[in-house]
Amino acid sequence: MPVIDNETRLPGGIPIYSTEKAADPCILVIFGASGDLTKRLLMPALFNLACDRLLPGRFAIVGIAMDDMTTEQFREKMTRDVKQYTTRPHFDSELWAEFAERLHYTPGNFSEPEAYERLARIVNGLEVEYHTQGNIIFYMATPPSIFGMISQHINAAGFKDRENGWLRIIVEKPFGHDLPSAIELNKELLAHWKEKQIYRIDHYLGKETVQNLLAFRFSNGMFEPLWNKAHIDHIQFSVSETVGVERRGKYYDTAGVLRDMIQNHMFQMLAYLCMEPPASFKPDAIRNEKSKILDAVRIMTPDEVLKHTARGQYGPGKKPDGSTALGYRQEPDVNPESETETFAAIELFIDNWRWEGVPIFVRSGKALWKRGTEIVVQFKKAPEVIFRGTPVDHLLSNMLIFHMQPDQAIEIRFQAKTPGPSLNLQPVDMRFDYSDAFEAGRGTGYEVLLYNCMIGDATLFSRTDLVESAWRIAQPMLDTWAGLPMGDHATYPAGSWGPPGAFDLIERTGRRWMEIVNRDILARIPLFQAADPVCLHQLAMMLDPRFYQAGEEIIKHGDTGREMFFIARGQVEAFDADGKLMSTMSDGEHFGEISLLLSIPRSATIKAATPTDIFVLEKHEFDRVLRDHPNFAATLKDQAQKRYNLPEGTL
Ligand code: BG6
Repeated sequence: MPVIDNETRLPGGIPIYSTEKAADPCILVIFGASGDLTKRLLMPALFNLACDRLLPGRFAIVGIAMDDMTTEQFREKMTRDVKQYTTRPHFDSELWAEFAERLHYTPGNFSEPEAYERLARIVNGLEVEYHTQGNIIFYMATPPSIFGMISQHINAAGFKDRENGWLRIIVEKPFGHDLPSAIELNKELLAHWKEKQIYRIDHYLGKETVQNLLAFRFSNGMFEPLWNKAHIDHIQFSVSETVGVERRGKYYDTAGVLRDMIQNHMFQMLAYLCMEPPASFKPDAIRNEKSKILDAVRIMTPDEVLKHTARGQYGPGKKPDGSTALGYRQEPDVNPESETETFAAIELFIDNWRWEGVPIFVRSGKALWKRGTEIVVQFKKAPEVIFRGTPVDHLLSNMLIFHMQPDQAIEIRFQAKTPGPSLNLQPVDMRFDYSDAFEAGRGTGYEVLLYNCMIGDATLFSRTDLVESAWRIAQPMLDTWAGLPMGDHATYPAGSWGPPGAFDLIERTGRRWMEIVNRDILARIPLFQAADPVCLHQLAMMLDPRFYQAGEEIIKHGDTGREMFFIARGQVEAFDADGKLMSTMSDGEHFGEISLLLSIPRSATIKAATPTDIFVLEKHEFDRVLRDHPNFAATLKDQAQKRYNLPEGTL
C-alpha cells in the first residue's frame, strides 16, 4: 500500500481528500464497529467526508467488536452497508474502493487485555503506513456502562504513554440515566481522560438548522435588541415524531421522552436560542454561555412539577397512512404495564435578567400526527386599542418560526393590510427556505461532528458541566413522575396531537400551542383538495388545532356560529334540538359552516364521540378565505347546499 498523503491522486488523476480544509491526520478506532450506529451513520458520514474532500489523506479506520471477522470481511460488510445507507444520490464506487482500503478490523472482547494489545499493534503499524503523527480518535459506539472499562484498557495497552500526537475520545448518549449516574459517568471518564479530550456527541448539534440558530442570532443585528422579556411573550420548542418506539422498546422503556429527547437534544436547542451572546465563537466561549443559561433554568419543586409538566403515553391508534398502530404497551419488548412516558410537555422558566417571567414551553412525543421540529418565538402583541373604530377587531402576535426539520426554513409571521378601501388585516409571512438559497448535500448530521473532532474543535460537543446542568433540570421531573401513576387521561391515541394535559398546560396560561400545519397534513382533508396553493398557504396559517375529549361539546344548538371545524382525527356526533342523534362524522369531514354562511344560529349540537383532534377556522378568517378564494368558496357552498338540502342560490 502506498503512503497516502494530501497530494495523492486516484488513477485518472482524481485528487483524494486533497484540500486545505481537510482534517488533521489521524487513526479512528471504532469500538462496536459491527453495530447499527457504525453501519447506519458513522460509515456513511465518513464516506461523505471523503467525497467532500474533507478527510485527511493520512487517515485510517480500525474497527473492533466481538464479531469474528477478518479485515476483508469487514470491508465487504461495510461496502454492503454503505451502499444501503449512503445519503448520496450517486455512489462513487471508485472513491469507495480507495476508502475501503483504509478500513481495518480486529475482533476483540472489550474486557480482555489481549484485544487491546492486538489493537495497539495494528494501530502502530498503520501509523507508520499512513504517517498519522500519533493522532488517534477512539469512538465508543458502545453502551456507556463500559466506557470506563474500555478507557482503562486503552491506558494499560500503552496508548497514553506515547510521546507524539493527540488522543481524543468520542462518546455517545445517553450520558447517564439521571443526575447521580451522569455525575458518576463523568467521574469515570475524567479519571482516564482530560476534559479537552472528551467529545460527547449530541446528533442534534450536527444539524445545520440547529447550528444556524447561533449564526442567525449573532450575525443579524436586528434581532438581538428584541431578544428579551420586554418583547418576547413566550417561546415554544416542539419535536413531534410520527414513529413509535419501533424495535427499540427495550431501551426506550427504561428511558422515556424526557431522557431520550428533552434532557439532551431539546435543552441543547434551548441553550442556543436563549443563551447570552458569547464573547467569541471559540469553543469554550460558547460552551460557557450554554452552561450558564442551563444553570439559570429554574429547578422545580415537586408541586411545580405537577403544575408545569404534562406527560402521556400512546395507546392504539393510526399511522399517518391510515393503517392501525399498536399502543406503546403492546410494542415488542415493552412492559405491558409500563409507566414510561412517550410524550411530555413542560413549562420552564429562566431566572435571569433577559428571560425573567417568559415561559419557555418544551414538548416532544412519539406516535404523533406529524413529524416536525420547530421553534416558535412569539412576540408581544401591538396595542389593539389604536384600531378601535376600524374593521380590525383583534391583532395577532408576531412570530419568528425556525423550521428545523423536515422543512428547513425561517419564517416571520406578521399582519398586512388587505388590498381595498377599508382597513382589513390578514396574517402573512416572509419565509426563507434553505433549499432556495443553498445546495447543501443531505448528510447524516455526523459529518460535521466527526470533522470537528478531527480538527479539535469542541464547540458542538457537550462539556461535563452542561450535561450535569441539563440533568439537574430534569431530575425533579423524573423523581416526581416516578412516584405517580400516569393515569388513563394521559393515554393519547397513536397519530393524535398528544394527551389533553399538554393542551391544558399551555391554555391555563392564556396561550396556545402553535401548530405548524403543512400542506401534507391539509391534503388529508378532502375539502382542501379544492384549494389552490395560495389558499392552502393561507389556511395553513389560519387553522387553529384543538383537542376535544370524548363527550365534550364542540358547538351548541342555537348558539351564534363563530367558527367552522375540520376533523383531523376522531369522531363527532350531531344531535338535534331534542337531543336525538342525527349523524356522525369522522376524519376528514367538516361542520359548522352553515351558521357562518347564513349568519343563523347553530342548527345542531355537536359533541366529540371519541377523543378528537379538530382544526378550527375562526369566522373572520373564514370570511377572508371566502372573499380571497372564490373557487374554494364555491366548492364549500356547493357542498353545504347539498348537505343541508338548500334550494339553489340560497348561498
Ligand atoms: C434520538 C432518539 O436521539 O433522536 C430517538 O433516541 C429519536 O428516539 C431521535 O427518534 C430523533 O432524531 P431526529 O434526528 O430524527 O430528530
